[in-house]
Amino acid sequence: MNKERIALAFSGGLDTTVILKWLEEHYNADVITVTGDLGQQKELIGVEAKAHQLGAAGVYILDLKEEFAKEYIFPALKSGALYEGSYPMATALGRPLLAKVLAEVARLEHCTAVAHGCTGKGNDQIRFEAGIAALAPDVKVIAPVREWEFRSREEEIAYCERRGITVSATKASPYSIDENMWGTSIECGALEDPRIEPPADAYQRTVAPELAPDVATSVQIEFKHGEPIALDGEKLSPVELIQALNALAGANGIGRLDLVENRLVGIKSREIYEAPAALTLHFALRELERLTLDKATSHYKAKIALDYADLIYNGLWFTPLRTAFDAFVSDVMKPVTGFVTVKLFKGSLTVQERWSPNSLYDLSLASYTELDKFDHAASEGFSKIYSLPIKTYAKVNGEVGNPHGVGSKVFEAFAQTLLQH
Ligand code: ARG
Repeated sequence: MNKERIALAFSGGLDTTVILKWLEEHYNADVITVTGDLGQQKELIGVEAKAHQLGAAGVYILDLKEEFAKEYIFPALKSGALYEGSYPMATALGRPLLAKVLAEVARLEHCTAVAHGCTGKGNDQIRFEAGIAALAPDVKVIAPVREWEFRSREEEIAYCERRGITVSATKASPYSIDENMWGTSIECGALEDPRIEPPADAYQRTVAPELAPDVATSVQIEFKHGEPIALDGEKLSPVELIQALNALAGANGIGRLDLVENRLVGIKSREIYEAPAALTLHFALRELERLTLDKATSHYKAKIALDYADLIYNGLWFTPLRTAFDAFVSDVMKPVTGFVTVKLFKGSLTVQERWSPNSLYDLSLASYTELDKFDHAASEGFSKIYSLPIKTYAKVNGEVGNPHGVGSKVFEAFAQTLLQH
């Protein structure tokens, strides 16, 4: 019988280690591992050797940092996509790219299936599978964690030991951590009780705001068409810029989020996040948009941002709706060029300076000094016509939206005094 060939999304952790062996046994398969470098701080060194040791039929370690920054992170940043208004979606943005390279390796290696280590309770299984559905609809997806027999970490370790696989003796973290250059997602352990403040050791890459320096740090962020291109005047690649800002903002206690969120699979979960660069860039870009976008476009873009965030979170990256959103956002961002200087201080972000060659801020219109050129007289007609529909309504229906009537309290008091006389 021909052996099945399966491309496995491989992190090198316990779950995907067990999966590799388990797939060989249960599917009589050759397993090809695929590991993506999305700029995680945790070194990928050792993953390659490990995959070989485990007997992988092929090992792919792919540097995806630049593609991730340019083609996944920046479109999401420009759209203003923050899930449920807060989460910049490091995990949710990483999954479609991993799904894409998994599909590519599957094609290259003539695999009939791909496999991932996601559980049945999370969003990530959906993101992987929707991505594979879009890019390799003919390829089967196997999710061993959803179907296998192990109920605990200990059982997985015992399985490895029976097969002579040494699992590193490092004490297991109580947390489940997913990380890349756009942020870190941390759940489980003490975090499962939303009433409890996150223990200090849950945070991986930021300084606690109360322990951050007592002196503020300023950073000037330059944008071109809505994409960040320089810090303090120094031009940087997307990856360099994100990494530099992670260090700078993280040292000032910026980037922590403690959220209860609505998962796609219907569960409310409590998760904490650290995304220093992401939150700083979203903040700065929004300030530049305030200066450069007209009111109607800016307000409409804010609505799109909600839908775009849902789309990313819900795993629908490879869809016609996303590319249409991107076309809209890219067009809208053409004038969003300039810089914003942000002050980083003990976990808070404030604007220190904003400038754009395309600024729509007109002092001769805004000023209350002798510079004022605004046509005050024109407002009389504008205000009259603007109020006309409601005036017409009020004439027919009486006072609108004020159940007590204009001056009713005053009138009652007056009537009382008349009665007394
Ligand atoms: N809740 C986040 C999301 O669905 C992160 C999920 C991964 N988190 C983790 N700790 N493994 O995007």
